Amino acid sequence: MKPLAGRVAVITGASRGMGRSIALRLAEDGAHCAIIYRKSAEQAREVVSQIEALGRRALALALDLREPAQVGPVFERIGEAFGRVDIVVANAAATAFRPMLEQKEHNVRRTFAISVDSFIAAVQAAVPLMAGRPGRIVAISGVDSHQTMAGHGVLGAAKAAVESLVRALALELGPRGITVNGVSPGFIETDSSRFYTERGLKRDYSPAALELIAATPVGRLGTGDDVAALVAYLASDGAGFLTGQTILIDGGLTIVSPLHRPAEDLSSR
Ligand SMILES: NC(=O)c1ccc[n+]([C@@H]2O[C@H](COP(=O)([O-])OP(=O)(O)OC[C@H]3O[C@@H](n4cnc5c(N)ncnc54)[C@H](OP(=O)(O)O)[C@@H]3O)[C@@H](O)[C@H]2O)c1
Repeated sequence: MKPLAGRVAVITGASRGMGRSIALRLAEDGAHCAIIYRKSAEQAREVVSQIEALGRRALALALDLREPAQVGPVFERIGEAFGRVDIVVANAAATAFRPMLEQKEHNVRRTFAISVDSFIAAVQAAVPLMAGRPGRIVAISGVDSHQTMAGHGVLGAAKAAVESLVRALALELGPRGITVNGVSPGFIETDSSRFYTERGLKRDYSPAALELIAATPVGRLGTGDDVAALVAYLASDGAGFLTGQTILIDGGLTIVSPLHRPAEDLSSR
């Protein structure tokens, strides 16, 4: 018996990147999936086909999370199609990577609309569809919520708000058997991390990636599958006593002191 057999999961931003990996992993674990995307319709259809090939039901829905008022109607359609919701993964995010002094009001508004306003709207729409059954809500935050990164000021602030909401929602929804947790990835190989490195930091991707790998205790970059495995655990029955937490998943990168040097560096001096 698969651990999520018969459950219905909604994953935002599942046409690409981490959201896609999360949707496929939850489907492998038995869940039917509603995947939400904004513009990558073809890629969303491919994810649906892959989920259906695993023997689960899947539906791709276009929804622009910059418009939180559109979230409720889309969850109604999910309710009509699947009859229930058990798992919500709020994964989608987008921003313009700019210094704070150059930020445009519309980017601040949109960044928060996607990550904060639409997260609240999704939870409000999903909880009635959980109908008293144990539910699981997972928000994808990011290391930028507490580690300052060039150009990430607005998104980092939105992610910090998400982590605060995780705690508030965990308190409110715990008595209903619904857990609410955050997952905070470090550098994960996706379109957006490459885009940020090349356009935000104006660095060549390969040497920047090698620097990160050298500084990361597990000696590699993160993958969507790494994040998906953690989300799958948080969505499982076994995680029922874990709530209100945001778990950092970064291969150990942020635990390392700047004074640290690998032993071979020291011996070559
Ligand atoms: N990659 C990293 O290193 C990293 C690190 C820390 C945290 N994170 C967080 O992890 C999450 C996923 O990141 P990722 O790298 O996988 O991102 P990505 O590759 O850029 O994918 C973003 C996904 O979000 C969707 N999306 C964007 N704007 C949307 C909107 N307005 N409405 C609905 N959907 C929208 C996209 O859909 P369309 O393609 O259809 O537009 C796409 O499916 C984000 O919350 C990000 O902040 C990423």
